[in-house]
Amino acid sequence: MASDTLYDRLGGHEGIRAVVDEFYDRLEADEELGPLFEDADMERLRETQTDFLCEAAGGPETYDAAPVREAHLHVPFTAERIQRAVDLLYESLDAFDVDEADADAVVEAVAAYEADLLAGENGDE
Ligand code: HEM
Repeated sequence: MASDTLYDRLGGHEGIRAVVDEFYDRLEADEELGPLFEDADMERLRETQTDFLCEAAGGPETYDAAPVREAHLHVPFTAERIQRAVDLLYESLDAFDVDEADADAVVEAVAAYEADLLAGENGDE
């Protein structure tokens, strides 16, 4: 049965928070990406990421943290690291049996910011 919005199909705020928790558990446990979060406030990141995805999926939440570009200027991203994060996001969506088209839409909401995530790549600190 198709619900109206991606937000509804993902289970609203609670369902999206569950996917985000799964995603951040995987990010933190990852050999390559985990160390990037060493000094991070993970609860805050999980909350802001939940708001970001809720808004992108058509929910009433609004993302009001730092713009993605500024938030990551100090993070040593590479295209490979972002691809790894995308893979982990797909795995997290799969763990909740999100169907393929909906999973693609969620990943696209993040992947659309690839250039902003990579903005600090050339050494801005
Ligand atoms: C486009 C979606 C994303 C949003 C909205 C977002 C949002 C944020 C925000 C708000 C911060 C905190 C900035 C601060 O406190 O100064 C942050 C930090 C960070 N994000 Fe993201 N992020 C996104 C995607 C990603 C992806 C795909 C990764 C992949 C690993 C990632 C990894 C990090 C890391 C490592 C930090 C730094 C943590 C720290 O040093 O405290 N982010 N992000």
